[in-house]
Amino acid sequence: MNKLILNTPRGNSEILVQENGLSYVKEWIAEKHPNSRIVIITDTNLGELYKNELAEVFTGTLTLSVPSGEDSKKLATVKQLCNELINEGITRSDVIIGFGGGMITDLVGFVASIYMRGIPFIAIPTSLLAMTDAAIGGKTGINLEAKNILGTFHPAELILLDVEFLNTLPDREFKSGLAETIKHAVILDASLANDLMKAEAELENLVMKSAQVKINVVESDPMESGLRKVLNFGHTFGHAIEQSSKFDLLHGEAIAIGMVISNKVAQKLGKQSKETGKKIKEMLEKWKLPSEMPEGIKPEDLLNLIKMDKKRSGDNISFIIAPEMGKWEVVELSAEELIDLVK
Ligand SMILES: NC(=O)c1ccc[n+]([C@@H]2O[C@H](COP(=O)([O-])OP(=O)(O)OC[C@H]3O[C@@H](n4cnc5c(N)ncnc54)[C@H](O)[C@@H]3O)[C@@H](O)[C@H]2O)c1
Ligand SMILES: [Zn+2]
Repeated sequence: MNKLILNTPRGNSEILVQENGLSYVKEWIAEKHPNSRIVIITDTNLGELYKNELAEVFTGTLTLSVPSGEDSKKLATVKQLCNELINEGITRSDVIIGFGGGMITDLVGFVASIYMRGIPFIAIPTSLLAMTDAAIGGKTGINLEAKNILGTFHPAELILLDVEFLNTLPDREFKSGLAETIKHAVILDASLANDLMKAEAELENLVMKSAQVKINVVESDPMESGLRKVLNFGHTFGHAIEQSSKFDLLHGEAIAIGMVISNKVAQKLGKQSKETGKKIKEMLEKWKLPSEMPEGIKPEDLLNLIKMDKKRSGDNISFIIAPEMGKWEVVELSAEELIDLVK
């Protein structure tokens, strides 16, 4: 078993990397929170797929599930879950487990942070995106009109990274999640980039290294005031492309294209060699992620969407580029300048 630690001003997360790890979670709770009751909150997909495994380890444990999909990440679900917790008599000396993808870890983390002013939270991420990104860092959130408008910092006390769960993750979701791992490699970990290009990439190693990149960034910038913005690599164009495709493209697919566009910007500014750009594109292609702008979307169509991106400082956009594998740099450009560079 491997253990990673994430230290934040709001508390620390122990991160267990372990296949068939559910029973370790149960032991951990018995040790750290003896006599507590456990509540598992999941989505309908995962609740169905892992009914037996969960029941075997967490015998007789209360399990609540919400419909799968981003639409459940909203206030109405928070209220409904809190009411169910009250009805069951759950108190601050109990423990809530969020079992699912990033939608669940964001939603359940949020509920855990506000229920009775905060109750211990354990995250068991089941999607690749949640294992390497969403579940790590303590950011919770729900959507109002826009995404993640309400949120808190409430780090999970324990996070289980068990790659066995990825066996049931749909292939397209897996690849989409892998785009964030590629992003971590490209801007912050050249050795992860090498591993990603190996013929036989070892999944647990990729997950662990990618999670470690996120841990390092969060530890340097726990409240998201500066450095964490490097994680926006590929996202300025990625978010705009995701929206322009009317969400036909999954998040990771759109940011894969966003990373390629970022290479174009970097090369036009004379800040990236053709060789580096080629390596990044090859990595995306190896993992069968898109690397070309979808037909029907032109750079100028993205101008207004990019202007609305919330990660702006004044009139300029802090745009992240990768000068070399494993390195990043911020360039300040207006949305118009950016679009001109990629036309
Ligand atoms: N808090 C953060 O720092 C942070 C960072 C990035 C993303 N996020 C959030 O994460 C969410 C996206 O996460 P996601 O892509 O995991 O979405 P998700 O949780 O909606 O999962 C995607 C789909 O995969 C299914 N699924 C998940 N694990 C599975 C498994 N093991 N087997 C079978 N099906 C499985 C889910 O039921 C769902 O249908 C968004 O809400 C985003 O805002 C948060
Ligand atoms: Zn992302």
